[in-house]
Amino acid sequence: MHPSNLVDRRHWDDAYVKKGEAGVSWFEETPTVSLDLIKALPGPKDSLIDVGGGASRLAAHALRLGFGHVAVLDLSAEAIARSQMTMGTEADRVEWIVSDVTSWKPGRRYDVWHDRAAFHFLTDKVDRAAYIETLHSALVDAGHAIIATFALDGRECCSGLPVQRYSPETLVETLGPGSGS
Ligand SMILES: C[S@@+](CC[C@H](N)C(=O)[O-])C[C@H]1O[C@@H](n2cnc3c(N)ncnc32)[C@H](O)[C@@H]1O
Repeated sequence: MHPSNLVDRRHWDDAYVKKGEAGVSWFEETPTVSLDLIKALPGPKDSLIDVGGGASRLAAHALRLGFGHVAVLDLSAEAIARSQMTMGTEADRVEWIVSDVTSWKPGRRYDVWHDRAAFHFLTDKVDRAAYIETLHSALVDAGHAIIATFALDGRECCSGLPVQRYSPETLVETLGPGSGS
């Protein structure tokens, strides 16, 4: 494991341990905006991955929306453990992946890639390129990616870490051709 990855993992584990999954500033009891965007996606959708999902309630909601395969990927084993605990037996229906998205090798493809506030922590060009490569290999050909970041006038840091801020246009430009619809 790369040393900076280890530092990041500790950082995120500490955040969840110190504040609890519902005490972190980004916690949402119901991730309404994400759910509305997911519901509005066209075409058949059966599988979804929540990248940097942390201890979000999105996976539980996705199961209730009827997704047949739901995955949560996060760098923090603490976040994943808390999410599993909250979900109880429903957690058995979720694919849990403790990994850095920039080095993860997907074992299958997903119809929907959801990321609320993980991509913007990639302030290094090389890490962003690795994320985008993984996104392309994990998404089915007609799949959809929902990636939420801080806006250009948003906060410069989150959880004590610097973030890369985007407008819709700079996000599309960064993600590359075919990413803008
Ligand atoms: C601000 S939190 C958002 C969590 C969740 N998406 C939500 O909306 O509640 C960012 C999450 O991204 C995870 N994360 C940060 N860098 C990551 C990386 N390189 N790979 C995977 N997860 C990462 C953190 O562990 C943390 O859970």
